[in-house]
Amino acid sequence: MTESFDMPIRPRRLRHTATLRAMVSETTLSVSDLIYPLFIDETVQVKTEVTSMPGVYRIPVSLAAEAAQEVADLGIKGVILFGIPLHKDDCGSAGWDDDAVVQQAIRSIKAQTPDLCVIADTCFCEYTDHGHCGVLKGEHVDNDVTLKNLQKEALSYARAGVDVIAPSGMMDGTVEALRSALDQNGWQHIPIMSYAVKYASAYYGPFRDAADCSPQFGDRASYQMDSGNIREAIREAQLDVTQGADILMVKPGLAYMDVIRAVKEVTDVPMAVYNVSGEYAMVKAAAEKGWIDERRVVLETMLSFKRAGADLILTYHALDVAKWLNDA
Ligand code: PBG
Ligand code: ZN
Repeated sequence: MTESFDMPIRPRRLRHTATLRAMVSETTLSVSDLIYPLFIDETVQVKTEVTSMPGVYRIPVSLAAEAAQEVADLGIKGVILFGIPLHKDDCGSAGWDDDAVVQQAIRSIKAQTPDLCVIADTCFCEYTDHGHCGVLKGEHVDNDVTLKNLQKEALSYARAGVDVIAPSGMMDGTVEALRSALDQNGWQHIPIMSYAVKYASAYYGPFRDAADCSPQFGDRASYQMDSGNIREAIREAQLDVTQGADILMVKPGLAYMDVIRAVKEVTDVPMAVYNVSGEYAMVKAAAEKGWIDERRVVLETMLSFKRAGADLILTYHALDVAKWLNDA
Protein backbone atom coordinates (compact mmCIF):
# COMPACT_ATOMS: atom_id res chain seq x y z
CA MET A 1 0.00 0.00 0.00
CA THR A 2 1.54 3.32 -1.09
CA GLU A 3 1.05 6.68 0.59
CA SER A 4 -0.09 8.19 -2.72
CA PHE A 5 -3.60 9.12 -3.66
CA ASP A 6 -4.93 7.95 -6.98
CA MET A 7 -4.84 11.32 -8.80
CA PRO A 8 -4.06 11.30 -12.53
CA ILE A 9 -4.24 15.08 -12.94
CA ARG A 10 -1.45 16.87 -11.09
CA PRO A 11 -0.66 20.44 -12.22
CA ARG A 12 2.49 20.38 -10.09
CA ARG A 13 4.18 18.00 -12.59
CA LEU A 14 4.83 20.92 -14.92
CA ARG A 15 6.28 23.01 -12.10
CA HIS A 16 8.81 20.40 -11.04
CA THR A 17 11.88 21.85 -12.78
CA ALA A 18 12.90 25.29 -13.95
CA THR A 19 13.20 23.92 -17.49
CA LEU A 20 9.63 22.64 -17.54
CA ARG A 21 8.38 25.90 -16.02
CA ALA A 22 10.14 27.89 -18.72
CA MET A 23 8.73 25.64 -21.45
CA VAL A 24 5.12 26.14 -20.38
CA SER A 25 5.23 29.80 -19.35
CA GLU A 26 2.37 31.66 -21.03
CA THR A 27 3.54 35.27 -20.89
CA THR A 28 6.81 36.91 -21.77
CA LEU A 29 8.28 40.30 -20.95
CA SER A 30 10.92 41.84 -23.16
CA VAL A 31 12.87 45.09 -23.31
CA SER A 32 11.05 46.08 -26.50
CA ASP A 33 7.76 46.21 -24.54
CA LEU A 34 9.00 49.23 -22.58
CA ILE A 35 8.58 52.98 -23.08
CA TYR A 36 10.45 55.37 -20.80
CA PRO A 37 9.03 58.81 -19.81
CA LEU A 38 11.41 61.79 -19.87
CA PHE A 39 10.72 65.15 -18.24
CA ILE A 40 12.37 68.00 -20.14
CA ASP A 41 12.44 71.08 -17.96
CA GLU A 42 13.21 74.58 -19.14
CA THR A 43 13.40 75.86 -15.55
CA VAL A 44 16.40 73.76 -14.43
CA GLN A 45 20.07 73.96 -15.39
CA VAL A 46 21.03 70.55 -14.00
CA LYS A 47 19.43 67.13 -13.65
CA THR A 48 17.04 67.44 -10.69
CA GLU A 49 15.51 64.47 -8.90
CA VAL A 50 11.72 64.42 -8.39
CA THR A 51 11.25 64.15 -4.62
CA SER A 52 8.30 61.78 -4.74
CA MET A 53 9.85 59.67 -7.53
CA PRO A 54 13.35 58.55 -6.49
CA GLY A 55 15.46 57.78 -9.57
CA VAL A 56 13.37 60.01 -11.86
CA TYR A 57 14.78 63.37 -12.93
CA ARG A 58 13.69 66.57 -14.60
CA ILE A 59 16.44 67.33 -17.09
CA PRO A 60 17.36 70.45 -19.04
CA VAL A 61 17.07 70.14 -22.82
CA SER A 62 20.88 70.15 -23.04
CA LEU A 63 20.89 66.67 -21.44
CA ALA A 64 18.01 65.21 -23.46
CA ALA A 65 20.14 63.54 -26.14
CA GLU A 66 22.44 62.00 -23.54
CA ALA A 67 19.45 60.64 -21.59
CA ALA A 68 17.98 59.22 -24.79
CA GLN A 69 21.29 57.56 -25.64
CA GLU A 70 21.27 55.80 -22.26
CA VAL A 71 17.73 54.54 -22.97
CA ALA A 72 18.67 53.36 -26.47
CA ASP A 73 21.84 51.63 -25.24
CA LEU A 74 19.70 49.45 -22.98
CA GLY A 75 17.67 48.27 -25.98
CA ILE A 76 14.54 50.23 -25.07
CA LYS A 77 12.72 51.29 -28.26
CA GLY A 78 10.80 54.36 -27.15
CA VAL A 79 10.65 57.44 -24.94
CA ILE A 80 7.67 59.65 -24.20
CA LEU A 81 8.42 63.33 -23.61
CA PHE A 82 6.80 65.73 -21.17
CA GLY A 83 7.78 69.39 -21.14
CA ILE A 84 7.94 71.95 -18.36
CA PRO A 85 8.15 75.44 -19.91
CA LEU A 86 9.60 78.60 -18.44
CA HIS A 87 6.46 80.59 -19.26
CA LYS A 88 2.87 79.43 -18.89
CA ASP A 89 -0.25 81.24 -20.08
CA ASP A 90 -4.01 80.75 -20.07
CA CYS A 91 -4.13 78.71 -23.30
CA GLY A 92 -0.81 76.85 -23.09
CA SER A 93 0.79 78.41 -26.16
CA ALA A 94 4.19 76.91 -25.26
CA GLY A 95 2.65 73.69 -26.55
CA TRP A 96 2.75 74.83 -30.19
CA ASP A 97 5.81 77.07 -30.19
CA ASP A 98 8.39 75.51 -32.56
CA ASP A 99 11.17 76.60 -30.18
CA ALA A 100 9.53 75.28 -27.01
CA VAL A 101 11.21 72.79 -24.76
CA VAL A 102 9.71 69.56 -26.13
CA GLN A 103 10.26 70.61 -29.74
CA GLN A 104 13.94 71.30 -28.97
CA ALA A 105 14.24 67.96 -27.19
CA ILE A 106 12.70 66.08 -30.12
CA ARG A 107 15.20 67.63 -32.52
CA SER A 108 18.21 66.88 -30.36
CA ILE A 109 17.14 63.32 -29.53
CA LYS A 110 16.39 62.48 -33.17
CA ALA A 111 19.81 63.85 -34.17
CA GLN A 112 21.61 61.70 -31.57
CA THR A 113 19.53 58.49 -31.67
CA PRO A 114 17.52 58.47 -34.92
CA ASP A 115 16.23 54.93 -34.38
CA LEU A 116 14.78 55.63 -30.95
CA CYS A 117 11.01 56.15 -31.19
CA VAL A 118 10.21 59.60 -29.82
CA ILE A 119 6.65 59.96 -28.59
CA ALA A 120 5.28 63.34 -27.54
CA ASP A 121 2.64 63.54 -24.83
CA THR A 122 0.19 65.96 -26.40
CA CYS A 123 -1.75 67.99 -23.85
CA PHE A 124 -1.78 71.43 -22.22
CA CYS A 125 -1.76 70.98 -18.45
CA GLU A 126 2.00 71.52 -18.26
CA TYR A 127 1.69 74.70 -20.33
CA THR A 128 -1.35 76.45 -18.87
CA ASP A 129 -1.08 78.73 -15.83
CA HIS A 130 -4.30 77.22 -14.41
CA GLY A 131 -3.06 73.63 -14.86
CA HIS A 132 -6.09 72.31 -16.77
CA CYS A 133 -5.71 70.30 -19.96
CA GLY A 134 -7.06 72.97 -22.33
CA VAL A 135 -8.62 76.40 -22.71
CA LEU A 136 -11.08 77.39 -20.01
CA LYS A 137 -14.57 78.69 -20.59
CA GLY A 138 -15.73 79.64 -17.10
CA GLU A 139 -14.73 76.80 -14.81
CA HIS A 140 -14.75 74.17 -17.58
CA VAL A 141 -12.38 73.20 -20.36
CA ASP A 142 -13.75 74.21 -23.76
CA ASN A 143 -13.54 70.99 -25.77
CA ASP A 144 -13.53 72.27 -29.34
CA VAL A 145 -11.30 75.32 -28.86
CA THR A 146 -8.85 72.93 -27.21
CA LEU A 147 -9.05 70.62 -30.24
CA LYS A 148 -7.87 73.48 -32.47
CA ASN A 149 -4.91 74.04 -30.17
CA LEU A 150 -4.14 70.31 -30.04
CA GLN A 151 -3.92 70.35 -33.85
CA LYS A 152 -1.37 73.18 -33.69
CA GLU A 153 0.59 71.36 -30.99
CA ALA A 154 0.71 68.07 -32.93
CA LEU A 155 1.82 69.83 -36.12
CA SER A 156 4.57 71.60 -34.25
CA TYR A 157 5.81 68.27 -32.83
CA ALA A 158 5.62 66.78 -36.32
CA ARG A 159 7.77 69.60 -37.75
CA ALA A 160 10.30 68.91 -34.98
CA GLY A 161 10.53 65.28 -36.12
CA VAL A 162 8.37 63.39 -33.63
CA ASP A 163 7.63 59.72 -34.36
CA VAL A 164 4.33 59.29 -32.49
CA ILE A 165 1.70 61.72 -31.16
CA ALA A 166 0.12 60.76 -27.82
CA PRO A 167 -2.85 62.91 -26.86
CA SER A 168 -3.57 62.64 -23.11
CA GLY A 169 -6.19 65.32 -22.45
CA MET A 170 -9.42 63.29 -22.84
CA MET A 171 -11.11 65.87 -25.08
CA ASP A 172 -13.87 64.39 -27.25
CA GLY A 173 -12.93 64.02 -30.90
CA THR A 174 -9.19 64.37 -30.29
CA VAL A 175 -8.05 61.49 -32.46
CA GLU A 176 -10.16 62.58 -35.43
CA ALA A 177 -8.99 66.19 -35.12
CA LEU A 178 -5.33 65.18 -34.90
CA ARG A 179 -5.57 62.59 -37.68
CA SER A 180 -7.04 65.10 -40.10
CA ALA A 181 -4.55 67.84 -39.18
CA LEU A 182 -1.62 65.46 -39.59
CA ASP A 183 -2.94 64.05 -42.87
CA GLN A 184 -3.70 67.44 -44.41
CA ASN A 185 -0.15 68.54 -43.73
CA GLY A 186 1.68 65.56 -45.13
CA TRP A 187 2.20 63.63 -41.91
CA GLN A 188 0.06 60.62 -42.85
CA HIS A 189 2.73 58.25 -41.58
CA ILE A 190 2.77 59.54 -37.98
CA PRO A 191 0.82 57.19 -35.68
CA ILE A 192 -1.46 58.32 -32.87
CA MET A 193 -1.17 56.56 -29.54
CA SER A 194 -4.33 57.65 -27.77
CA TYR A 195 -4.71 57.87 -24.02
CA ALA A 196 -8.19 56.58 -24.84
CA VAL A 197 -9.14 55.38 -21.39
CA LYS A 198 -7.74 57.72 -18.76
CA TYR A 199 -9.31 57.80 -15.32
CA ALA A 200 -9.43 60.78 -12.95
CA SER A 201 -6.95 59.19 -10.58
CA ALA A 202 -5.19 59.98 -7.32
CA TYR A 203 -2.28 57.89 -8.63
CA TYR A 204 -1.11 60.87 -10.74
CA GLY A 205 -0.04 62.81 -7.64
CA PRO A 206 3.75 62.47 -7.95
CA PHE A 207 3.62 63.21 -11.71
CA ARG A 208 1.93 66.51 -11.02
CA ASP A 209 4.90 67.44 -8.82
CA ALA A 210 7.28 66.25 -11.51
CA ALA A 211 5.58 68.08 -14.36
CA ASP A 212 4.32 70.99 -12.28
CA CYS A 213 0.82 70.58 -13.70
CA SER A 214 -1.67 70.37 -10.82
CA PRO A 215 -4.94 72.13 -11.58
CA GLN A 216 -5.01 75.43 -9.68
CA PHE A 217 -8.71 74.94 -8.90
CA GLY A 218 -11.07 71.97 -9.05
CA ASP A 219 -10.07 68.65 -10.56
CA ARG A 220 -10.08 66.85 -13.91
CA ALA A 221 -13.32 64.91 -13.32
CA SER A 222 -15.19 66.72 -16.10
CA TYR A 223 -12.84 65.27 -18.73
CA GLN A 224 -11.08 62.24 -17.20
CA MET A 225 -13.14 59.13 -16.47
CA ASP A 226 -14.87 57.96 -13.30
CA SER A 227 -13.05 55.05 -11.64
CA GLY A 228 -16.10 52.84 -11.45
CA ASN A 229 -16.80 52.78 -15.18
CA ILE A 230 -15.80 49.99 -17.55
CA ARG A 231 -18.59 50.06 -20.16
CA GLU A 232 -17.63 53.68 -20.76
CA ALA A 233 -14.01 52.57 -21.19
CA ILE A 234 -15.05 50.29 -24.02
CA ARG A 235 -17.01 53.12 -25.59
CA GLU A 236 -14.05 55.50 -25.41
CA ALA A 237 -11.72 52.86 -26.85
CA GLN A 238 -14.05 52.01 -29.72
CA LEU A 239 -14.60 55.69 -30.52
CA ASP A 240 -10.85 56.24 -30.77
CA VAL A 241 -10.40 53.23 -33.03
CA THR A 242 -13.16 54.57 -35.29
CA GLN A 243 -11.38 57.93 -35.42
CA GLY A 244 -8.12 56.28 -36.47
CA ALA A 245 -6.15 55.63 -33.29
CA ASP A 246 -3.17 53.36 -34.01
CA ILE A 247 -2.46 52.38 -30.40
CA LEU A 248 -4.82 52.59 -27.41
CA MET A 249 -3.73 53.26 -23.86
CA VAL A 250 -5.32 52.50 -20.51
CA LYS A 251 -4.18 54.57 -17.56
CA PRO A 252 -3.44 54.02 -14.68
CA GLY A 253 -2.38 50.38 -14.76
CA LEU A 254 -2.52 48.37 -11.57
CA ALA A 255 -5.96 49.37 -10.35
CA TYR A 256 -7.38 48.96 -13.90
CA MET A 257 -6.18 45.52 -15.03
CA ASP A 258 -9.76 44.48 -15.79
CA VAL A 259 -10.09 47.48 -18.10
CA ILE A 260 -6.95 46.50 -20.05
CA ARG A 261 -8.40 43.03 -20.55
CA ALA A 262 -11.85 44.28 -21.51
CA VAL A 263 -10.53 46.79 -24.06
CA LYS A 264 -8.12 44.22 -25.47
CA GLU A 265 -10.98 41.83 -26.13
CA VAL A 266 -13.11 44.24 -28.14
CA THR A 267 -10.44 46.04 -30.20
CA ASP A 268 -7.69 44.94 -32.56
CA VAL A 269 -5.02 47.63 -32.26
CA PRO A 270 -1.93 47.34 -30.04
CA MET A 271 -2.59 48.17 -26.39
CA ALA A 272 -0.44 50.21 -24.05
CA VAL A 273 -0.69 50.64 -20.31
CA TYR A 274 0.68 53.55 -18.29
CA ASN A 275 2.23 52.34 -15.02
CA VAL A 276 1.81 55.79 -13.46
CA SER A 277 3.77 57.89 -11.00
CA GLY A 278 1.81 56.90 -7.87
CA GLU A 279 2.30 53.22 -8.65
CA TYR A 280 6.03 53.85 -9.01
CA ALA A 281 6.24 55.94 -5.84
CA MET A 282 4.57 53.25 -3.72
CA VAL A 283 7.02 50.59 -4.87
CA LYS A 284 10.02 52.86 -4.33
CA ALA A 285 8.88 53.85 -0.84
CA ALA A 286 8.27 50.27 0.28
CA ALA A 287 11.56 49.13 -1.26
CA GLU A 288 13.46 51.92 0.48
CA LYS A 289 12.08 50.68 3.79
CA GLY A 290 13.16 47.16 2.94
CA TRP A 291 9.58 45.94 3.04
CA ILE A 292 9.50 44.45 -0.45
CA ASP A 293 12.00 43.03 -2.94
CA GLU A 294 11.90 45.81 -5.56
CA ARG A 295 13.23 43.79 -8.46
CA ARG A 296 10.86 40.87 -7.96
CA VAL A 297 7.85 43.10 -7.34
CA VAL A 298 8.52 45.23 -10.41
CA LEU A 299 9.13 42.27 -12.73
CA GLU A 300 5.96 40.59 -11.46
CA THR A 301 4.00 43.79 -12.08
CA MET A 302 5.36 44.15 -15.63
CA LEU A 303 4.55 40.53 -16.44
CA SER A 304 1.05 41.03 -15.05
CA PHE A 305 0.46 43.98 -17.39
CA LYS A 306 1.40 41.71 -20.28
CA ARG A 307 -0.88 38.95 -18.99
CA ALA A 308 -3.75 41.43 -18.71
CA GLY A 309 -3.33 42.25 -22.39
CA ALA A 310 -0.90 45.15 -22.65
CA ASP A 311 1.55 45.04 -25.55
CA LEU A 312 3.47 48.14 -24.46
CA ILE A 313 4.23 49.42 -20.95
CA LEU A 314 5.02 53.05 -20.19
CA THR A 315 6.95 52.93 -16.94
CA TYR A 316 9.42 54.86 -14.82
CA HIS A 317 10.95 51.47 -13.97
CA ALA A 318 11.96 50.94 -17.62
CA LEU A 319 15.71 51.49 -17.18
CA ASP A 320 15.87 49.09 -14.21
CA VAL A 321 13.69 46.50 -15.92
CA ALA A 322 15.84 46.64 -19.06
CA LYS A 323 19.00 46.16 -16.99
CA TRP A 324 17.48 43.22 -15.11
CA LEU A 325 16.27 41.57 -18.33
CA ASN A 326 19.58 42.18 -20.09
CA ASP A 327 21.53 40.66 -17.14
CA ALA A 328 19.30 37.60 -16.85
C1 PBG B 1 -1.16 65.06 -18.50
C2 PBG B 1 -0.69 63.77 -18.01
C3 PBG B 1 -0.78 63.25 -16.71
C4 PBG B 1 -0.10 62.03 -16.71
C5 PBG B 1 0.37 61.84 -18.01
N1 PBG B 1 -0.04 62.91 -18.80
C6 PBG B 1 -1.32 63.81 -15.47
C7 PBG B 1 -2.70 64.19 -15.31
O1 PBG B 1 -3.58 63.90 -16.11
O2 PBG B 1 -2.91 64.83 -14.30
C8 PBG B 1 0.11 61.14 -15.52
C9 PBG B 1 1.33 60.33 -15.53
C10 PBG B 1 1.72 59.74 -14.23
O3 PBG B 1 1.07 59.90 -13.18
O4 PBG B 1 2.76 59.08 -14.23
N2 PBG B 1 -2.38 65.08 -19.16
ZN1 ZN C 1 -3.19 67.25 -19.45
